[in-house]
Amino acid sequence: MLKRSFLGVLFFANVLMAQKFEKLALTPPMGWNSWNNFGCDVNEQLIRDVADAMVSSGMKEVGYQYVIIDDCWQGERDDLGFIQPDPERFPSGMKALADYIHSKGLKFGIYSDAGWQTCGGRPGSRGYEYQDALTYAKWGVDYLKYDWCNTEELNAKGAYLTMRNALYAAGRPVVFSICEWGNNQPWEWGRDIGHLWRTTGDIAPIFDGEVGHGSWNSWGVLQILDMRENIRQYAGPDHWNDPDMMEVGNGMTVNQDRAHFSLWCLLAAPLIAGNDIRNMNPVTREILTNKELIAVDQDALGIQGLKYLVKDNWEVWAKPLDKGALALCFLNRTLQPVEVKLDWNEFPVKDDEFHYQYFFNEKEYKIRDLWAKKDLGTTAKLFMTQIAAHDVVVLKLSPVK
Ligand code: GLA
Repeated sequence: MLKRSFLGVLFFANVLMAQKFEKLALTPPMGWNSWNNFGCDVNEQLIRDVADAMVSSGMKEVGYQYVIIDDCWQGERDDLGFIQPDPERFPSGMKALADYIHSKGLKFGIYSDAGWQTCGGRPGSRGYEYQDALTYAKWGVDYLKYDWCNTEELNAKGAYLTMRNALYAAGRPVVFSICEWGNNQPWEWGRDIGHLWRTTGDIAPIFDGEVGHGSWNSWGVLQILDMRENIRQYAGPDHWNDPDMMEVGNGMTVNQDRAHFSLWCLLAAPLIAGNDIRNMNPVTREILTNKELIAVDQDALGIQGLKYLVKDNWEVWAKPLDKGALALCFLNRTLQPVEVKLDWNEFPVKDDEFHYQYFFNEKEYKIRDLWAKKDLGTTAKLFMTQIAAHDVVVLKLSPVK
């Protein structure tokens, strides 16, 4: 009898704890992560300066929130097994850094790995999950990216569940970012474990192609876009497909950066900037802070877009939006400009997975160009435009009352 009521209390405590972790990512998380631009070269001054830049650049104002230190912040474990930050790079300690980030109205993210070592060869969390989760809670961590290097024969779902339970036990609400590269179909089991899961291997700062690193490759924007076409039904509020952190501002052309950003918004992807936001040029800043595009990504319905039309050298992605609206992204995959002509009546948008339909011959929509920031008439007329090489035109269609 006593045992049964004890189990009941435990169960109830666990339900309460799980509730604390719900609704932390009702829209795709937005922030910045050190890895894409700085790799292992991280230190506390950089992170403080990035937090400052997040505010002064206007990124915070449009919704970027998490400042995330990726790999290589770790030093050794102490005699009791508690992880310490690298004392040379983070001499003031992580609590002080978290306090600084919080004082700016931002949130603090950190990185670890389900294996015994991180991808960068620092101590991983395997066997130390509960201790690490407690340490993060003490420091004030709000977001954990949890990687998959050196996991040997570990079962992926089990390993991520262990860390999730450790985070629950530590008691501080944390956005949990599953980073196992899509190897074990995390979209099938990630929903109750984390808030987002990587769907592919690492992104590279190129638009179309791949980069070899010996035993593995990193991928261009188009490769990542094409790699996982049939998993949109798994995404939604609090559980997102993550096609990786952005490479906007890391060396692609302006057109390519604009296309990359737009596609991530159409995919309802987490918007985690990966450039040096302390020193970005105005064009990069404008791309990352385009409010109308961000509103597409952050739309309350939380529906991941689908490929709607494929033509010879251009294609259109569609994303159902709240209030009967729809976002369309016309993508030019080629290195030549393309002319687009579209008779809306011929091409209704049908989203069979989420049950949305847009019949343009039955209902008229107003058209807004989200990059030109201009209204373009309605779907009663033929749509014609030109798309530059490796660029996009993004429209928002709203029903005419
Ligand atoms: C893996 C991840 C990357 C990054 C590095 C750090 O490759 O996929 O996003 O975190 O590890 O070493």
